[in-house]
Amino acid sequence: MDRPIERIGDVATIIQGDALTVLRGLPGESVDAVVTDPPYSSGGMTLTARQADPATKYQHGSTKLSYPAMLGDNKDQRSFTTWATLWLTECWRMARDGAPLLVFTDWRQLPSTTDAVQAAGWLWRGLVVWHKPSARPLLGEFRRDAEFLVYAVKRKANPATRNCLPGVLRHSVNPAEKVHLTGKPVALLRDLLAVTQPGGLVLDPFTGGGTTGMACMATGRRFLGVELSPEYHRIAADRIAAAHRDALTME
Ligand SMILES: C[S@@+](CC[C@H](N)C(=O)[O-])C[C@H]1O[C@@H](n2cnc3c(N)ncnc32)[C@H](O)[C@@H]1O
Repeated sequence: MDRPIERIGDVATIIQGDALTVLRGLPGESVDAVVTDPPYSSGGMTLTARQADPATKYQHGSTKLSYPAMLGDNKDQRSFTTWATLWLTECWRMARDGAPLLVFTDWRQLPSTTDAVQAAGWLWRGLVVWHKPSARPLLGEFRRDAEFLVYAVKRKANPATRNCLPGVLRHSVNPAEKVHLTGKPVALLRDLLAVTQPGGLVLDPFTGGGTTGMACMATGRRFLGVELSPEYHRIAADRIAAAHRDALTME
């Protein structure tokens, strides 16, 4: 079946479709890194809570911004772990030896995500903490102002840098920059890409608003993305194309 595909020069390709189906049709040992932010299926300890509209689960306070619908964020714990193992296995097959993997997750889904990463064959190497100073305070409780990246490699690490990289990255969410309910700061992705090969091909099977791809354009990596939502596929392609043009004018 033909799928809508957006190509930006020879530096970025964004395919619209279901990640698992699309990845299964792509060649093995063809990407240099996997950096991705899947739907967490988080936001509650019960199935009903997890199946709530993401706009309700993930937005708090009185001012709620409106974004296109976020898809696929409704799995229970066991099906999330099984599903994550399936797509992470495809990512492992597509990765070259030594490729790093970075997968976003939150405190609820951290155990499932580390299980799935390892079950898929990746060698778990640690966590990166994304500290969000803008997170809301919680009366009488510890503030939940961190999300995590599960860091792993395919077989043996092939370091892309001789720098020592920090384990905690501090970036506020900038509402003016966000086009997606759970969009991540571009500056955070730029910092994360320091672990990937300059000029290498970075895979993000859950592209969303295209943040990983934009950071790739800004830092001289190539990008291969997949996104289920036709609306976000279009938005991501436009944003990545703009980031590519910006990078060219900076040269
Ligand atoms: C957490 S968001 C990614 C946000 C992105 N990092 C950003 O900064 O904009 C996850 C994305 O995965 C997409 N998605 C959900 N299920 C999918 C699937 N089966 N295949 C591909 N994309 C999927 C959702 O539509 C959503 O845009």
